[in-house]
Amino acid sequence: MTKEPQDNLMEKIVALCKRRGFIYPSFDIYGGLAGFYDYGPYGLALKKNIENLWWKQFVTDREDVFGVDTVEVTKKEVLEASGHVGGFADPMVTCEKCKKRFRADSLDQARDKQGKCPECGGKLGEPKQFNMMLKTHVGASEDDASVAYLRPETAQGIFTNFKNVVDSFHPKLSFGIAQIGKAFRNEIAPRDFLFRVRELEQMEVEYFVKEGEWKPAFEMWRKEIHSFITAIGIDGNKVSELEVAEADRAHYSKRTIDFEFEFPFGRKELYGLAYRTDYDLKNHATASGVDLSYMDEETKEKIVPHVIEPSLGVGRSFLAVLLSAYTEDEMNGEKRVFLKLKPALAPITVAVFPLLKNKPELVAKAREVFNLLRSTFRDTRYTVAFDDNGNIGKRYRRQDEIGTPFCVTVDFDTIEKPAQPDARLNDIVGQDSGRSGGDQSVTVRDRDTGKQERVTISDLTEKIKSVLS
Ligand code: GLY
Repeated sequence: MTKEPQDNLMEKIVALCKRRGFIYPSFDIYGGLAGFYDYGPYGLALKKNIENLWWKQFVTDREDVFGVDTVEVTKKEVLEASGHVGGFADPMVTCEKCKKRFRADSLDQARDKQGKCPECGGKLGEPKQFNMMLKTHVGASEDDASVAYLRPETAQGIFTNFKNVVDSFHPKLSFGIAQIGKAFRNEIAPRDFLFRVRELEQMEVEYFVKEGEWKPAFEMWRKEIHSFITAIGIDGNKVSELEVAEADRAHYSKRTIDFEFEFPFGRKELYGLAYRTDYDLKNHATASGVDLSYMDEETKEKIVPHVIEPSLGVGRSFLAVLLSAYTEDEMNGEKRVFLKLKPALAPITVAVFPLLKNKPELVAKAREVFNLLRSTFRDTRYTVAFDDNGNIGKRYRRQDEIGTPFCVTVDFDTIEKPAQPDARLNDIVGQDSGRSGGDQSVTVRDRDTGKQERVTISDLTEKIKSVLS
């Protein structure tokens, strides 16, 4: 029976991520660095699958969105014009006793009222604005003139390339420019695993529209975000929209909806959808002296387009996907953990095992099936793995924990049971396809039910393909 694994869910997810090679704390051997995480082999595969689905839905499946990939180190003038140098700040308070720093707006209300430090009970100082951008210097001299910043959002690289894309492609309004990339925020209090980190990845579209058309565009992207949430298997029952009040909106936004997810540590922002007006293009035009207006061919007027921005975090998507997929049940009297990932997102799509690793004839046949599946599933979204590590029970447990939808096992029946005539096999594994013996079938185990069925090798790829699309 499947159980709701709410107790210590975050601890379980963090432990699974480390144990199974999804996420490692960065610089672990040096004690880590707060707010930084590395993706291990399976985490990277899952992350890429999430990003690729986003890219397909938000960019390549559309005719009106162009992709770019812009630099992370950002010229100071860009972020002065965008308002980030002046305004990308959180209120910070420092404890006068233990010197620890906290975000004033996220301190526990009761303690905050008493002005007490949540760690040591000491007196908290007055809130000060703390700019969250990470600063660096470009070139050999470290003076004010060489200051640059690691970008706090991917959006600014899009705005500074607006004119380039218009000049190269002459798109008609409405159109968007998209990118997936890193952003950096020197958070006062990084926490909650991948939720609040200092180096993150964003998937953003800046969608340029005529001012009078911003509302339907906003609604269109609102639907796209919901459809992406479903596509990557985030539990829709845990997602809700929050109309962000004016006082809480970013400095550039006239309307924002937060798509919130019920994380174990509270209902928090997963994605954002903002109406950025013409704020960015206007400010960059003024600061750079370059005309960033757009010639409206219908009215023959120059206009500064307004912008709708769907902004999605990769790490937050990753965490919400894992939280939605994490499942515990009991199988054969034993507690089991598995990730109920969408098959197309799983780091391994299908794992092939020989029943026993010390029987060369089983290993050879399993390798043959592995090679067959590898040559069929050549699409970069899918991964076929060969696994002969430990006993079969351990292999199932490992594959369950990383969310592999199918495990294929080659056993003695595959190679020894009298063969059933099947002409299709000759096309698939060759004329002399090891059919000197064996029924040429394997067991396919379903991750979610643990049920196994015998499938002939010739039907294997179709069976797997049918659940991938
Ligand atoms: N571009 C929106 C954000 O970074 O929050």
